[in-house]
Amino acid sequence: MDKLPVIGTTPAAPIDLGMTEDELEAGIRRLKAERNAVILAHYYQESEIQDLADHVGDSLQLSQAAAKTTADVIAFCGVHFMAETAKILNPTKIVVVPDLEAGCSLADGCPAPVFSKWLEKYPGHTVVSYINCSAEVKALSDVIVTSSNAVKIVKALEGQKIVFAPDRYLGAWVQKQANRPDMVKWEGSCIVHETFSEKRMLALKVQNPDAEIIAHPECHEGILKHADFIGSTSALIDYAKKSPSMAFIVATEAGILHKMQIAAPGKTLIAAPPEDESCACNVCPHMRRNTLEKLYLSLRDLQPQVDVPEAVRVRALAPIQRMLEMSV
Ligand code: 13P
Ligand code: SF4
Repeated sequence: MDKLPVIGTTPAAPIDLGMTEDELEAGIRRLKAERNAVILAHYYQESEIQDLADHVGDSLQLSQAAAKTTADVIAFCGVHFMAETAKILNPTKIVVVPDLEAGCSLADGCPAPVFSKWLEKYPGHTVVSYINCSAEVKALSDVIVTSSNAVKIVKALEGQKIVFAPDRYLGAWVQKQANRPDMVKWEGSCIVHETFSEKRMLALKVQNPDAEIIAHPECHEGILKHADFIGSTSALIDYAKKSPSMAFIVATEAGILHKMQIAAPGKTLIAAPPEDESCACNVCPHMRRNTLEKLYLSLRDLQPQVDVPEAVRVRALAPIQRMLEMSV
């Protein structure tokens, strides 16, 4: 079957370095040692990149790894806001990304000047921002959360009025879990998680009645209301490993299936389907801009680098550190 088109941005043109995959991987390992670099990769990266990484994790785990590393160079295989977070935590280190254009619909849908103006409507509120936002939005926030600690952190803010940005679906799930119906939400969404089809997923469940539905909280309510378990990428992998069930319908970006299958060998993993059958819409077009070739070049040339203006960095650091302290 031909490769299905992905949603969102036009995929970057492939780069041919005239190297075999083995040569590329050996080259990346050599450059990593020469540069004293650490490779951090998100679960939504292509499997070849995950296999080369020093740490593969969810957004919180990767921030924790970035906060702890003693490497001189961080090669961040994920999207821009993740690498930016690593730079905010490590201003003296070089942070490179394979592709500087790897963005995120949640971060792009919440521009800092518009967000700042919107916040004026909610004086006295604590601003809780999902890590999927720009450094400038982090700088306007009181505390950052990820999908693995958002409920815990919002529960800890008892008695405070809360503004939550930028994911409305994660926000709605947190509202329910933390019993905070009064929480004000920014109306952003993830282009991948909002395309899952409730109808097609239920048809899969009819064909696989013993399969459990497991979903990321960025999914819309039509998916979440059927889920047997909801959690961050690392929580979903852990659940698939520990649950006695032998089959799972997995409603999140398809890159997660690589590590999930290693963690749960012998179990059947079925990717939840998008609305549009002719589109690989459960693949994040931003995450998949990164390739082995671009990772090789980023380590060879120490380009492209991620930078954050110092005034923004200092203001963005405080809510990230608050998150890290509240996550232990
Ligand atoms: P987590 O890995 O933190 O669950 O986040 C998912 C995601 O969408 C990252 O962009
Ligand atoms: Fe952003 Fe969604 Fe891609 Fe994650 S999967 S990086 S939330 S667009």
